[in-house]
Amino acid sequence: MELADLANLAQPPHLRTLFADDPRRAERYVFKVADLRVDVSKQRITDDLVGSLIELAQSAGVEQRRDAMFAGERINVAEDRAVGHVALRMPADSSFEIDGVNVVPDVHAVLDAMAVFADRVRADDRMTHVVNIGIGGSDLGPAMAYQALDAFRHGRIRCSYVSNIDGADIAGVLADADPASTLFIVASKTFGTIETLTNARTARRWLVDALGEQAVPDHFVAVSTNAERVADFGIDADNNMFGFWDWVGGRYSVDSAIGLSLMISIGPDRFREFLSGFHVMDEHFRTAPLTENVPVLLALIGVWNANGLGFDTKAVLPYANELARFPAYLQQLDMESNGKSVDLKGQRIGHDTGPIVWGEPGTNGQHAFYQLIHQGTRIVPVDFIGFARAHHDFQEHHDLLIANLIAQSEALAFGRDNRSEPWRHFAGDRPNTVILADQLTPSVLGQLIALYEHIVHVQGTIFGVNSYDQWGVELGKELANQVTPELTGSPDPGAHDSSTNALIHWYRTHR
Ligand code: F6P
Repeated sequence: MELADLANLAQPPHLRTLFADDPRRAERYVFKVADLRVDVSKQRITDDLVGSLIELAQSAGVEQRRDAMFAGERINVAEDRAVGHVALRMPADSSFEIDGVNVVPDVHAVLDAMAVFADRVRADDRMTHVVNIGIGGSDLGPAMAYQALDAFRHGRIRCSYVSNIDGADIAGVLADADPASTLFIVASKTFGTIETLTNARTARRWLVDALGEQAVPDHFVAVSTNAERVADFGIDADNNMFGFWDWVGGRYSVDSAIGLSLMISIGPDRFREFLSGFHVMDEHFRTAPLTENVPVLLALIGVWNANGLGFDTKAVLPYANELARFPAYLQQLDMESNGKSVDLKGQRIGHDTGPIVWGEPGTNGQHAFYQLIHQGTRIVPVDFIGFARAHHDFQEHHDLLIANLIAQSEALAFGRDNRSEPWRHFAGDRPNTVILADQLTPSVLGQLIALYEHIVHVQGTIFGVNSYDQWGVELGKELANQVTPELTGSPDPGAHDSSTNALIHWYRTHR
């Protein structure tokens, strides 16, 4: 079974028929994994089809590549690196070897140092504000998780996240900050990212202007893999830096020292619960047979939707306001991992790879783009995410919220026949998965993130791409470096195409 064969598989009948023919369908297609209840019964699948998808996984080598990742092999071939994010959440007494060395003790040494520092900040009444400066994986993960776990945050300390090179971002945060009570975390795997370094320099100037140079060690720490650049920037890499490793990809790093702001916010114990949530999902992914392996099944359903049925996008719609940034987080996780056109050997691929991921929390989206997902000509597979219990006391709100989640899932799948009034006709048969848990806790958030990480890994294997490099971001960065001096001085633009030259010229005359 190959990816190209998907298009030749018989399409299942309408979801109405599938449910009518099988009263036990919901039971059979609901999976329990850790604290998650994952309902794929409203996906356009049958047992035969799932059988074919499992064959596809087998012929693509999903088990072998998963095992190679857990064995610490250098599966990130283009960068010649191991892919070890699963080691970041292993218990202290376990082992994950990279090049024959167990990295778990190093992981726990950093976690312990983070915990000491986080406890110190939490106990220091002068500190009320933590500003994380980072971008991409050094921002989206901690920013998303901080918001998601708002119910667990320290009462005195708030966190802000500055990412954009647009000065409006840092200006907004600094306008509302007091130098004496602000801690900056400069988070960058490479410590070479222009956005982060520019924002960090601006923040440093702002602090020094207010409190003097001697205040820097108490107000700046770094998180990075590059101690030399951290020291060059003026942060003491021996005492004020938390490290991680090149085998942790940026978009897989929220559970490394990149999560320092989150640890300060929720405390070391809750952070460890967060990690244990990842780990329980890792263990399931590592050990469950393919037919019961939830990340594998969800990955295969995604491949079926995209490559078999031709649905190009996927919406992730959390019915939990705290997960407002989860779709943005998943965009980087999925699209930077699997948005590729060549295989592991550099050969051009003849099929579609990763989907376009998007989404917003419900019920807001219902009053914006749901029109299209119910009646548009394009079909958008949906992941709904919701929780039995909220972290607030407004029970009426929560009942209404979850009623809407359930109703949307039903409406998409079954529609409503109304051919006499075509504008009121809902065709249904629009596939969706419903992921539920009792409550959004640190552990449940870890489980959810790891679930999607492994979906991306499995899909990358099936697409035949390297999910762990990101060369596609380089060209734009290189050209921006070239254009920057052309905007303000010599050389005069002229080396570009006529449109680019004109854009530069326009800016030079209007700035
Ligand atoms: O430009 C893309 C990227 O390299 C992401 O992969 C990464 O998460 C982000 O930039 C930030 O990189 P760094 O942590 O090295 O500053």
